[in-house]
Amino acid sequence: MSAPVRILRDAPLAGRNSFGVAATAPLLAEVDDPAALPQLLSRPEFARPMVLGGGSNLLLAGDPDRPLLALTGQRVEVLGEDGPVTMVRAQAGANWHRFVLHSLDLGLCGLENLALIPGTVGAAPIQNIGAYGVEAGEFVHAVHAWEPARGRWHRLDRAACAFGYRDSLFKHEPDRLVITAVDFALPRQAAPRLGYAGLGEALAAAGIGHPTALDVARAVIGIRQRKLPDPAVLGNAGSFFKNPVIPAARAQALLDAHPGLPCFGSGTARKLSAAWLIDACGWKGHRDGDAGVSPDHALVLVNRGGASGAQLLALARRIADSVRARFGVDLEPEPRLVGARW
Ligand code: EPU
Repeated sequence: MSAPVRILRDAPLAGRNSFGVAATAPLLAEVDDPAALPQLLSRPEFARPMVLGGGSNLLLAGDPDRPLLALTGQRVEVLGEDGPVTMVRAQAGANWHRFVLHSLDLGLCGLENLALIPGTVGAAPIQNIGAYGVEAGEFVHAVHAWEPARGRWHRLDRAACAFGYRDSLFKHEPDRLVITAVDFALPRQAAPRLGYAGLGEALAAAGIGHPTALDVARAVIGIRQRKLPDPAVLGNAGSFFKNPVIPAARAQALLDAHPGLPCFGSGTARKLSAAWLIDACGWKGHRDGDAGVSPDHALVLVNRGGASGAQLLALARRIADSVRARFGVDLEPEPRLVGARW
């Protein structure tokens, strides 16, 4: 059995962020058993810790000036059935994609559209990870967390998490709560969601008329592998910008001028495709030294080897400036920035 807590000083972070940029953590604790948190975080040197998950939604523009906490417990347990759903608890350090595959192995559905998203289970509720028409928050039953400042355990139900598009309670008060485990309510009956452009088509092309949840996961994995660079091969943090949400009237004016602009939603607000806006400004495949934009997807910034976090951030700012100048739309980064502010 591994030790419940491992403390590292001057820990190199290049291998702990999916951009692969170099940085150093003055102090980092790996915590296997969350029961060790109250005592560890009561130590003055661990005041105001910052949680490091899989590092797949993070841009280190400098060294962190706070202690880092990595939760390494990966246990997944079935809690029981409740009507049509089965409750499953996963510890924060579990790898998200492995957890999705495990839930499918158990015959449970819901998370298939979220296959192959990098990162950990504990990070999933923070930005309410989403892909191909599904968001993780829809299947979250409760989040378990420790609050260092008040020395308290919390159990937040789905409503308390205040999930939105790439948004949650946890995103608004970063690091107030240290998420230790997430309970999911997963249906046993499949209800495939194939509406997202390209997904239904990929299954039809494979001759699959009534897909199982596993068929859907396989199709999603195929699409992601075609469109998104593998961080193990080319450093990246997935989409670098959120898709901007703007008032419907402004979206209509933009659509009148640019009929090809993908625009989603109804009511008073519309979501625009950030990838399209960036592509239209000519950034796809662009390189500034080792900092660049993926040639396959305009929303994905890439590190071609030796880019620093500051170089990637400078490129992101130039991209956002050009989109603002041409379309009057503000882009907001999706990954967490450390060592700089947007
Ligand atoms: N497009 C371009 N140029 C490009 C790529 C896309 O013009 O280089 C246009 C196309 O018209 C395409 C549209 O943008 O139809 C949307 O592209 P895509 O389906 O790839 O989706 P996205 O809006 O760019 C979002 C998520 C992804 C998620 C996909 C699939 C955000 C910020 N990103 O991307 O999430 O995988 O949808 O659901 O919401 C991530 O968060 O890291 C991430 C990869």
